[in-house]
Parts: sequence; C-alpha cells; structure tokens
Amino acid sequence: MRRKLVVGNWKMNGSRPANAELLAALVAARPFGCDVAVCVPFVFLGETAAQLAGSDLRWGAQDVSAQAEGAYTGEVSAAMLHECGCRYAIVGHSERRAYHAESDELVAAKAQAALGRGVTPIVCVGETLEQRDAGQTEAVVKRQLSAVIHTLAHCAAEMVVAYEPVWAIGTGRTATPEQAQAVHAVLRAQLQAATGHADRMRILYGGSVKADNARALFAMPDIDGGLIGGASLKAADFIAICRAGG
Ligand code: 13P
Repeated sequence: MRRKLVVGNWKMNGSRPANAELLAALVAARPFGCDVAVCVPFVFLGETAAQLAGSDLRWGAQDVSAQAEGAYTGEVSAAMLHECGCRYAIVGHSERRAYHAESDELVAAKAQAALGRGVTPIVCVGETLEQRDAGQTEAVVKRQLSAVIHTLAHCAAEMVVAYEPVWAIGTGRTATPEQAQAVHAVLRAQLQAATGHADRMRILYGGSVKADNARALFAMPDIDGGLIGGASLKAADFIAICRAGG
C-alpha cells in the first residue's frame, strides 16, 4: 500500500509573518496519517527548514537548475537545495513550461540534477484544454513523462509524478475523480513498463483540489495524494486536505 503524499505549492505567495503562522498551524495539527510537505519560494527555505525541523513535515522548492554550479545568474542548484534540507523539488510545473518556455528535455535535466543530490523531483505533466478537447490528453502526458523516464533511466522509480491538467489549475474547475483516475492509470502503466516498480511510485493529482473534493480524488486507486496550490495557503483548508490523505 502506497502512503499518500500531500504537497503544498505556495507558488509566488507568502511573507515572513504569514508563513510563520501557517507553518505553526501545520505543525500543531499533526499527525496527519500521510506524508505532508510544502514547496516554498527559495528565499523562504531557510526559515521553513528552521520552523519544520524536528517535525515529520518536509519541505522543498518549486524549481531547480539543471546545472551543477557556476555562472548561471539567478539559478539555484540541487546541491543548495540539499543543503537547505529540501526533500522535494517541483520540476516542469505548467506555469514554468508556459511562462519560462521549459521543454520536456530541460524538465528531464532538472529532474536528473535534483535526484543526483538526493532531492526527489516532483515531475508535473498535464494537458491544456485545447489538447483535451482534441483528444490528445494521453499522448501529451505520455510524451512529457517519457522524456524524464528516458533521462533518469534506472533511477526513474525514485521520482514522484504529478498530473496537473492545465485547465484545472487555479480555475476552480477540478477534474472529476474518474477523469483524473483515467490519466493516472495511463501514467502508472507507462511507469510500470519503464521501471517495473510503479506499484511503489506516487502519482499526485493537482488542479483546484479543495477540502471538499480531496477525499473523493484520493479514494481513487491510482491517486496517491495531491499537489495543492491556492488551498495550501490557508491553514484550515490545507489541514483538511492533509487529513483527507490520512
Ligand atoms: P490550484 O490548487 O491553485 O489549482 O493549483 C494547482 C497547482 O498548480 C499546484 O501545483
């Protein structure tokens, strides 16, 4: 049985006082009965690490450089994330693919850089509404995942995958549990063919997960938790979602 994982993706939100309050509420609300992590802006990693140290809550970043070190202004390396105690790094979020022109190959290189330093990549895949309407959902997510599988090779079983349909992100329009499950099953079959260990890999769903729909999504056989945007910024909402994973 896979243990569920609920990850908050704060995106470009937060402030020192607001973060301290949110993290204190999470620490106080434990135990959740599932694994819980928050992926915060780089500048807040130090304080997040300090506040969560000694708890079973994990933290991570929302991106990582594909490069190891050197003259790459503005980039943050996997070694630096490791030094900040990061367990996870989100890679290939649709907002980075769309606004920063990240290719499947770059996303794969970032996942490899993270894993090389013991930071688990949370690899995001997902189709746009246009692609879904054109019947291309399966082809799109398989192409996105296959680039990462190819690059990680025998280490591919170490990643976490997140299915985030672009049309469900920040829109309030969630995929139904059945729609999400159908794509998760496709991804698990692809992971199984590549690694032989898909039964122990976690595939998260993301896109307008809220306190009132989390339980139904998490009840699906191939949905192993969630990647939560907006609702991860409100303590009561995020705590309720974490409890749904327990
Ligand atoms: P929302 O939960 O705000 O729709 O965001 C989902 C997401 O992009 C998480 O990475």
